[in-house]
Amino acid sequence: MSGRALSFGVKAESYERFRPGYPAELADVVMAYAAHPVRTALEIGAGTGKATRLFAGRGVAVTATEPDAAMLAELRRHVPADVRTVQAAFEDLATGETAGEKYGLVYAAAALHWTDPADRWPRMAALLEPGGVFASFGGPVRLADRDVAEAVAAARAPFLESDEIPSPDGTPPEHAMQWPGTELQRSEWFTDVRQSEIPRRVTFGARDYVGHLSTISAYLVLPARAQEQVFSRIMRVLPEQVEMVADITVHLARRRPER
Ligand SMILES: C[S@@+](CC[C@H](N)C(=O)[O-])C[C@H]1O[C@@H](n2cnc3c(N)ncnc32)[C@H](O)[C@@H]1O
Repeated sequence: MSGRALSFGVKAESYERFRPGYPAELADVVMAYAAHPVRTALEIGAGTGKATRLFAGRGVAVTATEPDAAMLAELRRHVPADVRTVQAAFEDLATGETAGEKYGLVYAAAALHWTDPADRWPRMAALLEPGGVFASFGGPVRLADRDVAEAVAAARAPFLESDEIPSPDGTPPEHAMQWPGTELQRSEWFTDVRQSEIPRRVTFGARDYVGHLSTISAYLVLPARAQEQVFSRIMRVLPEQVEMVADITVHLARRRPER
């Protein structure tokens, strides 16, 4: 796994504090797609458990998996005691503690892009019951005001050109179906691929906005001195209240029952 994929743990508490949680509507979208009661779920890259709470709160028996020990320790403080936790990367699940188990739902919240693309879909299918549901959701949190966005981009420029994650399969942003829906449509293991959008707006105080940036991998991998410099440059151009567009893109697919 890359240093960037495993950069979050050093900031587990900040991650929990500054990253927005997931709305109830997201669980509604997943449950409506499933069209039958979902009893068990496996979560990939659960982080501090923001999405774990959402599904555990719906009565789903969630197994939360996460490779980073610090993130998993933070997660334990925020999820119900009956949530099972396993320290493992997605790539290790088939051979580790969960080997052979199958789930009604497998999902990844802002984490799938960190997993190894080799055999991603056969591995995913192996974790799902026939007809089981795969869900991936997330999306960038972007500044809503164009002038503020330009000022922040200029403040960041000497250190970082962009702080976003490029599409893992190079799908252009103007395409109707985005990654990972594109990969799911090509996979023989999955059918009924859907993409939907949950609009979300978030307002941060200026300091909390910088706190949020401090949990983003592009900044986390900068040397400590560069982090200090870029955050103080950004802080200087921010208004008191920072409006963000934080729409959630949801991808859903069903494991083909006949395979
Ligand atoms: C941006 S965080 C998302 C955390 C959480 N799912 C959320 O939505 O708040 C990405 C998470 O993926 C984990 N991760 C990185 N590489 C991974 C891999 N190969 N398999 C599973 N998880 C991975 C990181 O440790 C981190 O906790």
